[in-house]
Amino acid sequence: MTWLFGPFLLAGGLISVLALKPDSFTAFNTQTSFNVNVPLGLSGLSTQGAGGFDCPQSSAIHPTLHRELNEKLNGIYGTEGFKSKTYETLGGAIRVPTESYDGMGPVGKDARWKVFSGLHTFLEDRFKRLYSDLVVTKVNTYGLVFHWQGSDDSLLPILLTAHQDVVPVEPITWNEWTHPPYSGHFDGTWIWGRGSCDDKSSLIAILVVIEELLNQGFTPKRTIVVAFGFDEESAGTAGAGQIAKYLETRYGRDSFATLLDEGSGFQKVAGGDVIFAVPSTSEKGYTDILVEVSTQGGHSSVPPKHTSIGILSSAIVAIESSEHTPQLLRNGTPFATYQCIAEYGPDIPDSLRKLVKRAAEDDDALDQLKWALIDVDPINSAMFGTTQAVDLIRGGVKVNALPESASAVVNHRIAEHSSVVEVRKHLTQVLRPVAEAFDLTLDSFGVNVTEGSRGRLTIGTAFGAVLEPSPVTPTGLSGPYAILSGTIKATLEGSEVHPSKSVVVSPMLAMGNTDTRFYWNLTKHIFRYAHFADDDAYNGYHTVNEAIRAEALIEEIQFLTTFVLNWDEATI
Ligand SMILES: *[C@@H]1O[C@H](CO)[C@@H](O)[C@H](O)[C@H]1NC(C)=O
Ligand SMILES: *[C@@H]1O[C@H](CO)[C@@H](O)[C@H](O)[C@H]1NC(C)=O
Ligand SMILES: [Zn+2]
Repeated sequence: MTWLFGPFLLAGGLISVLALKPDSFTAFNTQTSFNVNVPLGLSGLSTQGAGGFDCPQSSAIHPTLHRELNEKLNGIYGTEGFKSKTYETLGGAIRVPTESYDGMGPVGKDARWKVFSGLHTFLEDRFKRLYSDLVVTKVNTYGLVFHWQGSDDSLLPILLTAHQDVVPVEPITWNEWTHPPYSGHFDGTWIWGRGSCDDKSSLIAILVVIEELLNQGFTPKRTIVVAFGFDEESAGTAGAGQIAKYLETRYGRDSFATLLDEGSGFQKVAGGDVIFAVPSTSEKGYTDILVEVSTQGGHSSVPPKHTSIGILSSAIVAIESSEHTPQLLRNGTPFATYQCIAEYGPDIPDSLRKLVKRAAEDDDALDQLKWALIDVDPINSAMFGTTQAVDLIRGGVKVNALPESASAVVNHRIAEHSSVVEVRKHLTQVLRPVAEAFDLTLDSFGVNVTEGSRGRLTIGTAFGAVLEPSPVTPTGLSGPYAILSGTIKATLEGSEVHPSKSVVVSPMLAMGNTDTRFYWNLTKHIFRYAHFADDDAYNGYHTVNEAIRAEALIEEIQFLTTFVLNWDEATI
């Protein structure tokens, strides 16, 4: 993930609410899962709905046609030989330090990209069968696309994605690592190193699954496409940006049945008895806005009452005094998440549970609920609304010269229900009185909103950073969401790493962005989910001591295998 948000931070408010002490005991409605012995299809799935009205749950879905194969592979995955080979594979991938930086030059010009060819050599050597049997396409040199042709062209292919790059390791933190960041060391429980969680575990898991399926002589009915970008942690444009164009040209618009990328995982609550899996079904938007004040310069001995810097300060005060009001909407993803928590959260206070229920119909209750949830955890305010943060400031060149210009950059994460235009309008309204008070022309995105005589206040895009909130993936039980949910449940049912009494799957809004932002044209069914628990990461993402629970990597492989086989049987 980029933008410094690990998947579990993404679930912030959710964790707090799930962890609230109950103010009265409420019996938890235990779920039963069952094996569905019908081929997956629209009709098959629609009969599987079980559980709460407000948070429909799919049952566990196990492959039926491919049941023996799935069981055989699970047997192989459980062997010590397979495990140690897999741990060593992830270790090997970690040992290639594929760091990506902001402001990289083009591939072929900037020598820092070359390290990716080292990763390719490693993968080619380790996954010989996959490289020889699948069609391998390199996009913009380091982007990797694997095509595994299915026998039935009437079925839309599935797309599995991950990224090859990692965030750089801060040199001054090097000695804080228990095991060196590019060691790939396996200590008996954890596999250590930058990329172990984000995102080489998923990348390796995908390749392992395909290699193992090939080894078993599996031939897919439904085409499988795998794509690995290489600059997700920076711009994303050289990797997934180019891959997206290639895929749209090669396969067409809306040409994939589903897309599974990195993202959130699952949370264990009630001492691990209940698991909440929270695939992200949408992402917030993003924009950086430059606010610049330009006034006349001159000698500092005869200053005006307010310099550009002083005026910019007023502008910043105005911005920070007018936050976007968070909105909890009934048709939005955050409300859906809290409906699931109210329906199935074992420990949440009864009053909150009732409030969620009432909020489904009652506007006052919805408003009360919004503030109650923000009160429980302020992160909910970021979940429900557009956030703004003044993150950069610049102005002045010399102590005896009046600053001719001063500027700040305001970072925005745009609410699911909002848009870039709304953010721009908001800022324009907030800054208009400032421009008028200081007699400045207000130029908002190229339009003079007010005219003034003492200078300019300009609002514009910084760094070209403009991203609308993503489309929202449908979560009906007759579509791809059910296959993902059912696969998550099937995997956790037999889990030795994460034993639980019941599993709930809930959609969630991601507050950061992934490579999927380039893939919107390819399918409406985008899921950002990796099958890892909150405690499978030793210390979070993008920081020191990144390490992943080795056994959890095996379970991710089981999950992906079942996912691929379930999709191969599905008729949607
Ligand atoms: C905006 O106003 C400035 C003067 O402050 C002027 O030079 C410019 O041409 C105007 N732009 C537009 C688009 O009207
Ligand atoms: C999606 O398609 C639209 C319309 O063809 C195009 O303008 C846009 O660039 C595409 N988006 C991406 C991320 O490729
Ligand atoms: Zn990532």
